[in-house]
Amino acid sequence: MRRPVIAGNWKMYKTIAEAVAYVDKLKPVAGRARHCEVVIAPPFTALAAAAQSARGSEIKVAAQDVHWDKEGAHTGDVSAAMLVEAGATHVIIGHSERRRDHGETDEQVNRKLKAALASGLVPIVCVGETLGEREAGNTRQVLERQFAGGFCGLTPAEFSRILIAYEPVWAIGTGRTATPEMAVESHRIIRELARREFGEGAAISLRILYGGSVKPDNIGGLMAQEEIDGALVGGASLDVGSFADIVNYPRS
Ligand code: 13P
Repeated sequence: MRRPVIAGNWKMYKTIAEAVAYVDKLKPVAGRARHCEVVIAPPFTALAAAAQSARGSEIKVAAQDVHWDKEGAHTGDVSAAMLVEAGATHVIIGHSERRRDHGETDEQVNRKLKAALASGLVPIVCVGETLGEREAGNTRQVLERQFAGGFCGLTPAEFSRILIAYEPVWAIGTGRTATPEMAVESHRIIRELARREFGEGAAISLRILYGGSVKPDNIGGLMAQEEIDGALVGGASLDVGSFADIVNYPRS
């Protein structure tokens, strides 16, 4: 049985004060969730304060990026040890906005992933195709390329600590959610790649989250799919009420 993960990616939103107020409101409505893991990903500046506020609840805190080096001359970057010290337990790696805005490559994703694992962080690695790639019928090839580049050189034990988020780029912030069937099709491809590379056990236990315009009114349909093990939520995670509704999605 794979325990679902509902994660909120705040992107470049919320000050420290706003983050603390959010967590204080989230705790009573989602801080005791048993049916899923709850993760929020504030910007770097609010990580420590959010983690401090979340203490004593089940809410976990993720960073939105990490550098692969332990330390060094990398202006603007943050190391895995710094994230752990700030109270992060998870880290998002390879989000399509970082690939787009910062030219991140699969090779860099791989290095970041290894640094995160070495520091005991749970990586949430994002993969997914653009609209052009989908329309050209290349979704599978894109996922294969991102998987091969992003996850190379890992042992099955290391791979088993990773969460993957399937985020079709065309569904992010557009209001165009992939249908549950489209998401399932891509999740199956990812699970098959995991099976091929890391074995049956790793594939069966791998949790694959869906991301892209997840809202309170479509989470139920997505989570009803056996293949969908959670969600990485952007815009709809910024409001506590709507994120709590997503965390407490309808379950039969
Ligand atoms: P939206 O939910 O705003 O589409 O963003 C999805 C996302 O990029 C989460 O990482």
